[in-house]
Amino acid sequence: MKKRLLMVSNRLPVKIAADGTATRTAGGLASALEGAELENEQIWVGWPGGAEEEFDDPEAISKQLNEQNTWPVFLSQAELDGFYEGYANSTLWPILHYMVERAKFSQEWWDSYKAVNQKFADVILSIAQDGDMIWIHDYHLFLLPELLRGTNMNLRVGFFLHTPFCSSEVFRVLPHRAELLRGVLGADIIGFHTSSYLRHFRSTLLRVLGKESEMDSIWYGGREVRLLAAPIGHNHLGFQKCMEREDFGEIVAEHREELNGKRLVLSVERLDYTKGVPQKLTAIHRFLKDNPEWCDEVIFVLISVPSRQGVEEYDQLTEEVQRAVGAINGEFGSVGHSPVQFLHRGFPPADLAALYALSELCLVTPLRDGMNLVAKEFLDCQREEIAGRPGVLILSELAGAAEELSNAIQVNPHNTEEVADAIARALEMPDEERKFRIEAMQRRLRLRHSGPWAQSFVEDLEKVPAREQRVAVF
Ligand code: F6P
Repeated sequence: MKKRLLMVSNRLPVKIAADGTATRTAGGLASALEGAELENEQIWVGWPGGAEEEFDDPEAISKQLNEQNTWPVFLSQAELDGFYEGYANSTLWPILHYMVERAKFSQEWWDSYKAVNQKFADVILSIAQDGDMIWIHDYHLFLLPELLRGTNMNLRVGFFLHTPFCSSEVFRVLPHRAELLRGVLGADIIGFHTSSYLRHFRSTLLRVLGKESEMDSIWYGGREVRLLAAPIGHNHLGFQKCMEREDFGEIVAEHREELNGKRLVLSVERLDYTKGVPQKLTAIHRFLKDNPEWCDEVIFVLISVPSRQGVEEYDQLTEEVQRAVGAINGEFGSVGHSPVQFLHRGFPPADLAALYALSELCLVTPLRDGMNLVAKEFLDCQREEIAGRPGVLILSELAGAAEELSNAIQVNPHNTEEVADAIARALEMPDEERKFRIEAMQRRLRLRHSGPWAQSFVEDLEKVPAREQRVAVF
């Protein structure tokens, strides 16, 4: 019989409002895992969104979620301030994305991070059974693997990082770097999206802990920890289902009408400073200035899903983006046409699929990104018969996806001229070249979607020997 799997991530795939209503969570991890369709019995453990104090009856919500095999870890407002907005998102997030000058450090936040990791461990241990597999996701929970190892249970623990793992020179800036590394080394398998992140992790182990490792493993604490690079895929099956819906043609027709005959250049991202939205707008400005003949022909649609609202940097970023969009439209717009549409909200998957299919060009230009699934979703949903011609992907070389998608037009997102020229080049690219580029990428990513990715990680975890066979081998 297949082993039971506990999926653990800071955020659950559903967000629960104070009145108990559930909505889907935005973001790459949730969307990819939704399409994984694993055969193992599964339980999700994670934060349901909001502060614990907002819920009238957390116990009732717990019960409701438990019926759907979901175990909530409620976080108080103080924990959200210290653990989530503080240590996870104002210390670790900028460091892992190489934005050292944005990182803030606080002992209180660190204490809160440790306490919340322990809280997750307590919830997991209250439901775990001998032999279970625990798959922990992301930077919020670096300490959790070691906390689980400290028990006598026979658990198989995997950890996957969905952000970049930065160079050791950057990681060592963290005051608690050694504790973080020891924490994650409690896992039996540690996974990254790219071989570069894995390389950085290995050199950090050497610099910070003085530990040598092999390409794919390290001996630590008398046992072997496997290290792997496995790029996550997108939710191919989910998008395919959307495109097979009976009303998909109508959804496409509605969006086509909105475009009013203009050629669509699409961007989709959480509104986060790592995504480089102001830099992208500077490049769009440059493109429109250098190519006035395109002003009335194209429409740039920026879908920016609100994120981490309430964190100062994110609120400032929203204002900065709104100002830049207004300035571009003021300069290049006409009575009937604004070249940039800024849509500050999430869209249902079927609408996203329709917009991806209708786009002539997708602009994915993060300053740093662990993977970036939008690039893969766009390529997968492209249909020549809907857009009229094959679409083109402009992709930041600083996104993890760049290692796989070599047929995209790759750009340095900090280089305004290069991005502006790439937009012009893509719009003018002959159909044969477009077709050649996109088909090569589509073939690959439709095989390596989130299903096989998750399946293969779980199979590796299933093969981890039982606890008594793992310890003190030498
Ligand atoms: O990129 C890593 C990731 O964990 C994504 O899966 C997710 O979209 C984001 O970071 C976290 O967002 P949030 O802070 O809204 O949970």
